[in-house]
Amino acid sequence: MTVQRPPMGWNSWNTFGSEINEELIRTTADCMVSEGFLDAGYEYLVIDDCWAEKQRDEKGRLVASREKFPSGMKAVSDYVHGKGLKFGMYSSAGSLTCAGYPASFGHEFTDAQTFAEWGVDFLKYDYCFKPTHEYGPQLYRRMGTALANCGRDILFSACSWGADNTREWIKTTGAHMWRSTGDIRDNWESVKALYEIQRDTHPYNGAGCFNDMDMLVVGMNGKGHAALGGCTPEEYRTHFSIWAMFGSPLMMGCDVRSCDAETRALLQNRAIIEVDQDPAYRQPYLANAVNAGSGDVWCRMMANGDLVLGMFNFFDSAREPFVAFADLGLGGSPDLALSITDLWTGEELGVFKDLYRSPAIGAHCCRMLRCKVLYG
Ligand code: GLA
Repeated sequence: MTVQRPPMGWNSWNTFGSEINEELIRTTADCMVSEGFLDAGYEYLVIDDCWAEKQRDEKGRLVASREKFPSGMKAVSDYVHGKGLKFGMYSSAGSLTCAGYPASFGHEFTDAQTFAEWGVDFLKYDYCFKPTHEYGPQLYRRMGTALANCGRDILFSACSWGADNTREWIKTTGAHMWRSTGDIRDNWESVKALYEIQRDTHPYNGAGCFNDMDMLVVGMNGKGHAALGGCTPEEYRTHFSIWAMFGSPLMMGCDVRSCDAETRALLQNRAIIEVDQDPAYRQPYLANAVNAGSGDVWCRMMANGDLVLGMFNFFDSAREPFVAFADLGLGGSPDLALSITDLWTGEELGVFKDLYRSPAIGAHCCRMLRCKVLYG
């Protein structure tokens, strides 16, 4: 199986932690369809940790919690598929999951088979409780091989948080995405910290195996398992824009059943999602490194030749970032110009030559600009 675009979906962990059950999954699936999330591209519904019984069955197979999932996992999976969504689950390369449930170490092939029988399309695979004498890359290769041979297409989502130099070996394991960061929390400091990690790690990103910056906290508004104060609406917008600019998987983490219209509009912004999902899948580069005191400006070339500028203000006061077009690879002709559209407001800003200086961008705010290159 190959995966050409950063996966998009929803994951239960950020909001619900261990408080999951089949009713939550069914109603979330309903909502992902009825509220337009599937249409916007969010196709995977992933149950994270805490779904299992504490004991395997007599044949050594994982068993879904009878209390949380009384209908059994196959029925839940059928329901999710019936809505036109894909179904994801979770395990760990160690002996236990991070929350202490049975995990797949020593059971990789049996578990891959069980997941295939349940109709699983996506497996998030954590790194907790790895026996210290075991070699991490080999454990991911084992599960990667098991999944690639289980008779079903299952997207392999590795979650070793960048530990043990993950970026150097993860593409050998069969993983289609890999967590390049530690766990996100619902506040600005966490978003900023994950951005800083990604600044160094993004060159390892690429089609087929995507850097996963972690599930989105957009719309949590300080409520739920990963909550830690919450972000402002502008900070959520910046968070979403950064993930799109870096081409990270977009896995929602809020309760989509109760999110307000503003959150829905943010998560479903087609112009920003298009940047994330651009088929050329090029990496962005920092376009104003020497003027970083004015805010970071990243540039990414789209498949159709457009340039997208992501202007991010990590300072605690307003900034007016600017970028010289020579730093975007434009030069050599006096006729070169950029026709610029603001992707968040939809406003056409006009045609600019040589330089673009942004009006003030507030603290923690951003702008996403799509630029058409004009010449001749
Ligand atoms: C780790 C992962 C999280 C989540 C929890 C579940 O911390 O990084 O994303 O899956 O485990 O216990």
